[in-house]
Amino acid sequence: MLITNKEIQICFDNAIKILNNNLKDFTYDFQEANSINNFYQKSKNVDWTTGFCTGEYWLAYEYSKDTAFCNAANIQVDSFLERIENQINVEHHDMGFLYSPSCVASYKLTKNENGKKAALLAADKLITRFQEKGKFFQAWGELGAENNYRLIIDCLLNLPLLYWATDITGNPNYREKAVEHTKTSLANLVRQDNSTFHTFFFDHNTGAPLRGVTHQGYRDNSAWARGQAWGIYGLALSYRYTKNPTCIDLFYRVADFFIEHLPKDLIPFWDLEFTDGDGEPKDSSAAVIWACGMLEMSKYLDREKAVYYTDYAKKIAYSLYKDYAVKDISISNGLLLHGVYAKKSEFNGVTDRGVDECNTWGDYFWLELLTRLSKDWEIYW
Ligand code: GLY
Repeated sequence: MLITNKEIQICFDNAIKILNNNLKDFTYDFQEANSINNFYQKSKNVDWTTGFCTGEYWLAYEYSKDTAFCNAANIQVDSFLERIENQINVEHHDMGFLYSPSCVASYKLTKNENGKKAALLAADKLITRFQEKGKFFQAWGELGAENNYRLIIDCLLNLPLLYWATDITGNPNYREKAVEHTKTSLANLVRQDNSTFHTFFFDHNTGAPLRGVTHQGYRDNSAWARGQAWGIYGLALSYRYTKNPTCIDLFYRVADFFIEHLPKDLIPFWDLEFTDGDGEPKDSSAAVIWACGMLEMSKYLDREKAVYYTDYAKKIAYSLYKDYAVKDISISNGLLLHGVYAKKSEFNGVTDRGVDECNTWGDYFWLELLTRLSKDWEIYW
């Protein structure tokens, strides 16, 4: 079933009610990355995920025109400026996740100069993580350290901040580094069978590609569902900004692998290794990221392909509307149930976190998906 316009409106109306109720708790405070028993607790602006809360308010403002959302989002923008000026928890690559849906959005929608300033400082910060040996942005850890000399697939979503920074400043350096990182990612992250590595290591002395390793997936050679989804959306955004045709070729391969590994209700399990009957949890956030990526790439495909992927996004939205979207504030203060932040396996190094819970990026991309399905949206990325 494809979601209808009426159902999209119902989803928006439910989301706006919940977000309106959240304003009192989450304006000067942010949400934790994931809920506990489906309710978010308060947090300071310290994690890689806080930009999604602000991004939800921008999307809610676009839909409802309620200035309460605009005001709350701009209050949060000041917090992002303070965070980057004081270098609070910014020693990692997630500047795009933090600053695109919050500060770039504030500048695009309200010409907020603090948003522009904060986002440019964040782009400068990201640039400091570029490794000439290997030509990529090092995701985590001490710069140059052998045990962290790697990129991760999620970083493709951090790059639009750099394309934006070049547009705003005229300085080509941001864009050039983003293009280099994209080329390195495309050359190393997609396997022969069209699944993807989560992270990829390089030799810290020579920059030579070494090996793919998982962080949050089930095992090194499986396809972590959200990683594959970041790849799909990342390829669409990379094509948007570079027009490199390799992005389209890889998009078909990676998106079709995803489709071929979906369970009956089209919402993936946390790793694409699993299917119905395995008793593993779903990751609804991977579904919404994937759907947004398909809608973005559909803008650049021929009509038949565009309809195919757009219809998939509508089918996913219908499944989410039916069984995953929060319909009542008494159930949750989040928007989308049944996500997974991290699930421990015998082969990965993470501990269980946010398993079968809401997470802030799932909520944000759910709202982005509804927005994309309801109008020709000027993106924050
Ligand atoms: N970007 C980190 C995650 O998706 O969990």
